[in-house]
Amino acid sequence: MKIGILGVGHIGKTLSRKLSAAGHDVQVANSRGPETIDSEVLAFGARAVDAADVARGVEVLILSVPLNRMPATASLVASLPADTVVIDTSNYYPARDDRIQAIDAGQVESEWVVEQLKRPVAKAWNAIGSDSLARKGSAPGTPGRIAIPVAADRDRDLAVTLSLVEDTGFDAVNAGSLADSWRQQPGAPGYCTDLTREELVQALGAAERSRLPQRRDLAFAAISERFAGVGTNPDADYAVRLGRALYM
Ligand SMILES: NC(=O)c1ccc[n+]([C@@H]2O[C@H](COP(=O)([O-])OP(=O)(O)OC[C@H]3O[C@@H](n4cnc5c(N)ncnc54)[C@H](OP(=O)(O)O)[C@@H]3O)[C@@H](O)[C@H]2O)c1
Repeated sequence: MKIGILGVGHIGKTLSRKLSAAGHDVQVANSRGPETIDSEVLAFGARAVDAADVARGVEVLILSVPLNRMPATASLVASLPADTVVIDTSNYYPARDDRIQAIDAGQVESEWVVEQLKRPVAKAWNAIGSDSLARKGSAPGTPGRIAIPVAADRDRDLAVTLSLVEDTGFDAVNAGSLADSWRQQPGAPGYCTDLTREELVQALGAAERSRLPQRRDLAFAAISERFAGVGTNPDADYAVRLGRALYM
């Protein structure tokens, strides 16, 4: 497929490598220009382009930018045909992102993204840490293969996104609609805890919505202390252990 990826940080760079290695035609962009994109991002054939060109001609656009930057992508997304699959990898951490009152008040993260973009999205690759995404993929059928949840409201968005998640080396699990995608957000038992398909299905069902924000914020505080303010996930094993202790 022809895929654009906006954002080549911890998550986007690995998606670029894996999806181009799987045979997809990938173009990537960040906010600073193609000359600032590391060669490792392009190692398997992806091309670096200007952000204004990353959605040109694509069948799938992956938005892998911080949640608080989503509104800045709306004009780019508005240029896409209605049937283009747009995939959102984002998570909300109030202590890192600008506070978003609607989400603090209980709106599901990807439903807020849909409002900003004024079009449907699928949610994927948000519930795996960057280190696990880069290092822990495996071939289909491998015992203990890690699973990743996918939520979407349109059948084609769901089918395409499930297939792309498999291409990155993980079992893809249909987690339901965007309205249900709080089950795969920070603080939930299936969030960044590196579970198998069977374990993930159980974890999605066991999630308790009212407990998520407090658990999310506890984990963020612990990770920030451990990594001196780094808000992402540089040590999957630490973050996976922490997530299993706090969320499950
Ligand atoms: N890190 C994790 O373990 C993890 C796991 C799952 C999901 N996520 C989520 O995935 C998303 C990306 O996370 P990340 O850790 O990969 O972030 P990151 O390392 O901070 O990278 C963010 C990327 O987005 C680009 N960007 C930001 N605003 C942009 C804009 N307006 N136009 C074009 N590019 C823009 C940045 O480019 P410049 O540097 O040029 O500005 C950078 O390439 C976040 O929403 C995060 O919550 C992260």
